[in-house]
Amino acid sequence: MLIKKIYLENFRNYQHQEIVLNDNINVFFGNNAQGKTNILEALYFCALGRSFRTFKENELIKFNENISKIVIHYEKQNRENKIEISLNKNSKKMIKLNDIKINRNSELVGNLNLVIFSPDDIIILKQAPALRRKFLDILISQLKPNYVHILSEYNKVLEQRNAYLKTKNVETIEIWDEQLASFAEKIYEYRKMYIQKLQEKMEKIHPSLTNGKEKIIIKYKTGFTNKEEFLKKIKYNLQNDLWKGYTHEGTHRDDFEISINDKTLNLYGSQGQHRTAILSLKIAELDIIKEEIGENPILLLDDVTSELDLERVNSIFNIVKDYQVFITCTDINSILKYDCLTKNIKLYNIENGNVVSE
Ligand SMILES: Nc1ncnc2c1ncn2[C@@H]1O[C@H](COP(=O)(O)OP(=O)(O)OP(=O)(O)O)[C@@H](O)[C@H]1O
Ligand SMILES: [Mg+2]
Repeated sequence: MLIKKIYLENFRNYQHQEIVLNDNINVFFGNNAQGKTNILEALYFCALGRSFRTFKENELIKFNENISKIVIHYEKQNRENKIEISLNKNSKKMIKLNDIKINRNSELVGNLNLVIFSPDDIIILKQAPALRRKFLDILISQLKPNYVHILSEYNKVLEQRNAYLKTKNVETIEIWDEQLASFAEKIYEYRKMYIQKLQEKMEKIHPSLTNGKEKIIIKYKTGFTNKEEFLKKIKYNLQNDLWKGYTHEGTHRDDFEISINDKTLNLYGSQGQHRTAILSLKIAELDIIKEEIGENPILLLDDVTSELDLERVNSIFNIVKDYQVFITCTDINSILKYDCLTKNIKLYNIENGNVVSE
């Protein structure tokens, strides 16, 4: 998969900007707050229909403007494709895939496949389960469009059930429970399958990043494994749910846990172990996507050289040198010193929302 060209109009701090991209390594360098991450955000937005920084799409529109547009030309399986997203402060965003308007995010996700690695990712394994669910959901969504649909249906039913709980009159709650349980079972099957795939990849990747010193295990944490169990649990919880006014157990509480040498990472892991584990997780994600779509996904590396040590950066660069990669950094020399990247590299200097290719 290759992104050929990107056009930004009133997107973040860009007014009108076209960038023709290199098939291999692309490095955006410049001082802080010039617009480097904004470019990665635009690519991510076209792939997943959402930003990795905000839920509020109006923030993406340039200050004092009302409309914004991103256009991406890319090649997948040797075919030319185009994604166009228009944002409007006063109406819903419009997405076009190869000039045809699409109405649902689930029709967009999976067309442009990418993996992002940013130093902030370290919190995925440290903080609340929501971030880990998000990681897993995005991985599965890119590969199984049906999953996006099922997940959104589950969330809709959950919202309706919660509204119903608040009325305190729940005679027909079984209708919601039944639907919720059906979607929950399907989500469980997908998540179980992808946790298993991550495990298979990580158990090979992780020792290679730690000189064989660390064994990594990823474990799915969920309260049920099929529809019947889900229904039983939700029935058992009804009084508590009524009292709380929301459904407090279910698929929306799923999590996964990583352990290193049989010790839970977020209880006992050092900062460095967290970083290496997240690296394993991301490389595993990259491998899984590559295997399933039959070509290399795009890789976005935001500011990795300033946050990771030389050895870890070297491991990433050696793995990704054959991908189309978008790297941001403040100091260009922090990239050029890695020989493995310099064969087919294009540099772009970013200054106050202007891109100058070098
Ligand atoms: N909606 C917007 N309209 C105009 N400018 C914006 C908008 N949103 C963000 N910006 C500007 O974009 C800049 C930040 O861009 P970005 O995050 O890409 O910086 P960066 O080059 O990656 O910096 P760093 O090296 O610190 O990560 C800031 O100057 C910010 O004010
Ligand atoms: Mg940045």
